[in-house]
Amino acid sequence: MKSKVIIALILILILIQFLPIERTNPPINPALDLMQTAVLSASEVSLLRAACMDCHSHETEYPAYTRFQPVGWFLRSHIRGGRQKVNFSEWGNYTTEKKNHKLEECIEVIEEKRMPMKSYTWLHPKAKLSAKQKTELISLFDRLKT
Ligand code: HEC
Repeated sequence: MKSKVIIALILILILIQFLPIERTNPPINPALDLMQTAVLSASEVSLLRAACMDCHSHETEYPAYTRFQPVGWFLRSHIRGGRQKVNFSEWGNYTTEKKNHKLEECIEVIEEKRMPMKSYTWLHPKAKLSAKQKTELISLFDRLKT
């Protein structure tokens, strides 16, 4: 009985490999892209890239392990969910009011340690923010408010 369950699980694991995720990004319109329209220091750019951009932009980097399911599926759901909430590549589509609101939320999620997601920093140690880096990102989001 036990061995049948194990064989079934292995079969499922093999079968789901045939349902890969698309490891591509939608195009970026430079006129809408925060990274190209805002004045950012090099260190701000690298912080955003290290901690937020994989899920909140069209600049997602797909590590090799995303070829394996269900890991890829988890990642895809985070990317979809993240882009839906805040998309720095489509920043210019937001109204001023919405931008300010999103920036306020960005500050909150960092202060409340909700972002970057724990499951992400576990696999991307560079995304783990030091107190100094948090302060830098928070003051960046604060500065971008209009
Ligand atoms: C691994 C992917 C991932 C990373 C990295 C990530 N986020 Fe998110 N983010 C999400 C997902 C998924 C959601 C929507 C679900 C949720 O609210 O938990 C979200 C939601 C948000 C929201 C909306 C919160 C709300 O209350 O609705 C903000 C703001 C945000 N993220 C900012 C950031 C910032 C700033 C960073 C970098 C410091 C970051 N995120 C890094 C995946 C990510």
